[in-house]
Amino acid sequence: MTDQARIITLPKICDPRGNLSVIESYAQVPFEIKRAYWIHDIPGGKYRNGHAFRTQSELMVALSGSFTVVTCSANGLAEERFTLSQASCGLYLPPMTWRSIEDFSTNALVLVISSGEYNPLEYIRDFNLFKQLAK
Ligand code: TYD
Repeated sequence: MTDQARIITLPKICDPRGNLSVIESYAQVPFEIKRAYWIHDIPGGKYRNGHAFRTQSELMVALSGSFTVVTCSANGLAEERFTLSQASCGLYLPPMTWRSIEDFSTNALVLVISSGEYNPLEYIRDFNLFKQLAK
């Protein structure tokens, strides 16, 4: 079966001093972690336009607040919506997954763990091209 976008439940070490979650390469994510970036200070009403990565995988986590990721898989081009609102859950996005992000809550903080270093050539920003390449 082709890999597909899915929610991954991360370990959550509950503690009265504050809970702790963790992500390690090939443990919680099926790839080696090469990069982390985060989207923060998001003004109300904003959204991130869609794109897909040719070969890179990602895991997205709502470190605070909530947002919705709309995905379209290369496999069957089916659209799915994932609302992330817990810091102990991640959305795994395999290569060739079209995604856009919307419905950011106040104080939303998006952590993204990636299998690759930043490379603009990895991006597919045209949905029609994505559909062609997905065939
Ligand atoms: P980008 O991933 O293109 O976001 P979006 O598709 O939602 O517009 O990133 C926005 C900008 O940030 C772009 O100019 C490239 C830069 N950027 C980096 O320099 N390094 C990174 O790891 C990422 C993710 C983005």
